[in-house]
Amino acid sequence: MQKKGVNFPPAAAPGTAGPYCRGQEGARPPCEGLCRSCRAEGCVKKETGDRFFRIRGGHPLKGTATVHGAKNSVLPIFAATVLCRTPVHLARVPRLSDTGVSLRILESLGCVCALSEDEAVVDPSSATGSRIPDRLVREMRSSSVFLGSVAARMGEAYLCLPGGCELGARPIDLHLMGLRALGMVIEEKGEKLHAYHNGLKGADITLPFPSVGATENILMAAVLAKGRTVLRGAAREPEIADLCRFLRRCGAEIVGDGGPVLYIDGVKELTGCSYTVMGDRIEAATLLIAAAVTGGEVEVKGFSPTDVGAVLGVLRRMGADLKIYRDRVRLSAPGRLITPGRVDTAPFPGFPTDVQPVLTAAACLADGETVVSENIFDSRFKHLSQLAGMGADVRTDGRIAYIRGVKSLHGANLRALDLRGGAALVTAALAAQGESQIHGLSHIERGYERLEDTLSALGADIRRM
Ligand code: UD1
Repeated sequence: MQKKGVNFPPAAAPGTAGPYCRGQEGARPPCEGLCRSCRAEGCVKKETGDRFFRIRGGHPLKGTATVHGAKNSVLPIFAATVLCRTPVHLARVPRLSDTGVSLRILESLGCVCALSEDEAVVDPSSATGSRIPDRLVREMRSSSVFLGSVAARMGEAYLCLPGGCELGARPIDLHLMGLRALGMVIEEKGEKLHAYHNGLKGADITLPFPSVGATENILMAAVLAKGRTVLRGAAREPEIADLCRFLRRCGAEIVGDGGPVLYIDGVKELTGCSYTVMGDRIEAATLLIAAAVTGGEVEVKGFSPTDVGAVLGVLRRMGADLKIYRDRVRLSAPGRLITPGRVDTAPFPGFPTDVQPVLTAAACLADGETVVSENIFDSRFKHLSQLAGMGADVRTDGRIAYIRGVKSLHGANLRALDLRGGAALVTAALAAQGESQIHGLSHIERGYERLEDTLSALGADIRRM
């Protein structure tokens, strides 16, 4: 299919469909996110059945792995495509269930979308919709990042409040404060939001906390506002810089990304471009920690090590030997890790909250006592009770976890309760003695593309059952 000079990737063949297809007619229920993993004729979603990973632990990870495109980067970039008048071509798009949800939101707004392998084309030229469907917001809490771009482009947007999630309360008050400062009127009726405006105007905005989502939403509205916006206290996560690079490629004028103050000079319109999504630093950190706790030796490629500087520092403290290059890290781990002491999660460049669960899994086996303070989310230690079921010595007190390393963990029947907590269970199971089953794969598939393939290629005994 050819559309306005942009090559749309071909549709996938029936039965071998990619992650973004609706299944064959009559298939119930249709696989709406990840057909490739359900592997079913007609995309009948086996994942609603009890799929699980079977992991036989004790194999040191060895070899080379290349990370996929970053989930936390591609989702706001998908939201930003709405701002463009012409098609956008994205490369290195990770095949995740959240990718499918984003594309379904874009289609519901009237965009024409296609996805093949790791490329996506979004043609927003005829998009006129302003309602972000409730059921999709419920499926993917970060759908709220569509609020700024849809309202900026369409003049209004309807969104139901995403509400809390597995990690605790997830307010979006800072998003709303920033959008209101740009001239958006936002009416809240119960859980429903209606945002509208008669032309946005640049403003001086200060975020009291560097919220990633609020920074993204404000940025996306500000690029089409009249005049200059100064956003102080902005999040500095590498995914913000990736969004800024994408927006600049589309014609936006933004300076300051990577730092705490963003300067955005509004432009009349944006045009589509071709863009390659950055490598996933959280996937990279996960693989490095999993290799470290299994006593392995790996090279993880395709990301910027400076994006996980805090994680690499902790791994060094734990006794791992690291060689750091421009776009890869080589890690060689001792037989047993030692405790890194205290680790506090913090906004970038601090230790990322998304890596905290995987780190705690490794700490369960490290020599000595580790204290982990979770400073970003209210409820991010749920995986620890499952690790206790594998023999870990863990205790929590509010947002602080105390972990006394044990010499070995044993395999167990586990259930992922959230995305990164699920990755923590996989990490522990890889290092444990005996067999584990990890259920609740739909959480893990939100953020890791074919994790079992990546780990098998590194020598892990892991199978999707
Ligand atoms: C993003 C990431 C997520 C990561 C998080 C922190 C995506 C899709 N998700 O989430 O993986 O864990 O950054 O690095 O990129 N808060 C408020 N009011 C607001 C906004 C946030 O109180 O208006 C609070 C949140 O409840 C949370 C904290 O601030 O406790 C961090 O939230 P935020 O930085 O906004 O994270 P997300 O954008 O939701």
